[in-house]
Amino acid sequence: MIVIILWVLLSLVLAAVISFISLRQLLLSRKKKLHKSSDNNINVGIFHPYCNAGGGGERVLWCAVKALQEKYPNSKVIIYTGDIDASPSSILQKAKNVFNISVDSDNVKFVFLKQRHWIEAKNYPHFTLLGQSIGSMVLGLEALCKFPPDIFIDTMGYAFTFPLFRYLAQARVGCYVHYPVISMDMLKRVQQRQMSHNNKKYVARNPFLTWTKLAYYRLFSKMYKWVGCCAETIMVNSSWTENHILQLWDVPFKTHRVYPPCEVGHLKKLQHTGKSDEFIILSVGQFRPEKDHPLQLQAIYELRTLLANDEALWSRIKLVIAGSCRNDEDYERLKNMQDLSKHLSLENNVQFKVNVPYEDLLKLYQTANIGIHTMWNEHFGIGIVECMAAGLIMVAHRSGGPLLDIVETSEGSQNGFLATDAVEYADNILNIIVNNAEMNGIRSAARASVERFSEREFEKNFLRAISELFTNA
Ligand SMILES: *[C@@H]1O[C@H](CO)[C@@H](O)[C@H](O)[C@H]1NC(C)=O
Ligand SMILES: *[C@@H]1O[C@H](CO)[C@@H](O)[C@H](O)[C@H]1NC(C)=O
Repeated sequence: MIVIILWVLLSLVLAAVISFISLRQLLLSRKKKLHKSSDNNINVGIFHPYCNAGGGGERVLWCAVKALQEKYPNSKVIIYTGDIDASPSSILQKAKNVFNISVDSDNVKFVFLKQRHWIEAKNYPHFTLLGQSIGSMVLGLEALCKFPPDIFIDTMGYAFTFPLFRYLAQARVGCYVHYPVISMDMLKRVQQRQMSHNNKKYVARNPFLTWTKLAYYRLFSKMYKWVGCCAETIMVNSSWTENHILQLWDVPFKTHRVYPPCEVGHLKKLQHTGKSDEFIILSVGQFRPEKDHPLQLQAIYELRTLLANDEALWSRIKLVIAGSCRNDEDYERLKNMQDLSKHLSLENNVQFKVNVPYEDLLKLYQTANIGIHTMWNEHFGIGIVECMAAGLIMVAHRSGGPLLDIVETSEGSQNGFLATDAVEYADNILNIIVNNAEMNGIRSAARASVERFSEREFEKNFLRAISELFTNA
């Protein structure tokens, strides 16, 4: 009996090894053929299955493609995408329209992948992480067979594709990580049996399920580390992501922080047009609970307490909350906020603006003096960067991205203010209003500092991080 089982196992291993070797031979010879047509160019494959989505991740993609084309004109960029219903020209046109980025269409090739359904979360109600990861290997294999590249760069975080490209196609591998798929926080939450969106009540209550889930997460993070370390260069989009990736993968010498490109050029040119006797505090953000709009109202309430003896100044201060509502819950939150502002008798000093068009937002930037941000532990905070570019003095939450990446409060290089509770927000706001004349230094420091998040800076740091992939590629 045992002999038979051993035999079966042995032949399975043998079959796996043989298919691995033959697939590899096939891919390598195909890779060689792809080079014959032109002399010694380098094929850079970029894995971005949703390249036609038009979000922040796609801005990174197109800026990266443009930077690659400028630096390495003899290389060819291949984009692996699952947008099979879009044509190459329509995808490039969209990049132009949405991001104002023109890439050279002669030097880009699209490889269309039919197996994208393998990575959709909705297909994996249980064991989503593992399901999507294995799914991404299937999709990666399709990409690999259709076009084995010399250099492989993943820009969407599908780390399980790295070993395929590295070991089957002998490609050099790099990646840009927006978000780790698992985090130590997730593990901790399961361990402490807290409920959350990825830890359901029945799991948190049941010790056996908790143990199983913990074992699953631990095993998964080990695998995630192994596949992640197949990359030779790892770019992360912020300090937050960097900290998590360092905890998980622990390869500091390969990890580079490369901020994603933000569009700030036109904001930096805006001129202030507000009235000089009016102080407008602007809050920009969706009406989502984590944005913590109530804290903004409390801060204004505290500000009024501070100004109890200066009714005249108080009447010249206004908080403008501009936000978008996506659904009924957002509208309900908006309604609650309006009620709260009445309850605190702030309605004369608080104004709500819902779903303002971009043109109007630009006008708001021009009339406002101060920007307020209250979300706790935001991973980055692009809204803060935009306010600073537009010339607002920012008071942001002392946590997450604002603290780690954006706002500098030390003397000499100060570009804004940080606060934690309503009283501290009010103190800072009053300080800005009273010492208005002294704020010009901070304002120009803020406008200069957002250059760190510009397209130019992204291209420079991106090219530096991937340069080693091109040596001996
Ligand atoms: C688009 O990009 C070009 C060059 O990169 C620049 O000159 C132009 O001002 C940009 N247009 C907008 C609307 O930002
Ligand atoms: C990094 O990516 C995550 C996930 O998309 C996002 O929440 C965060 O704001 C990004 N950071 C920057 C600097 O854009």
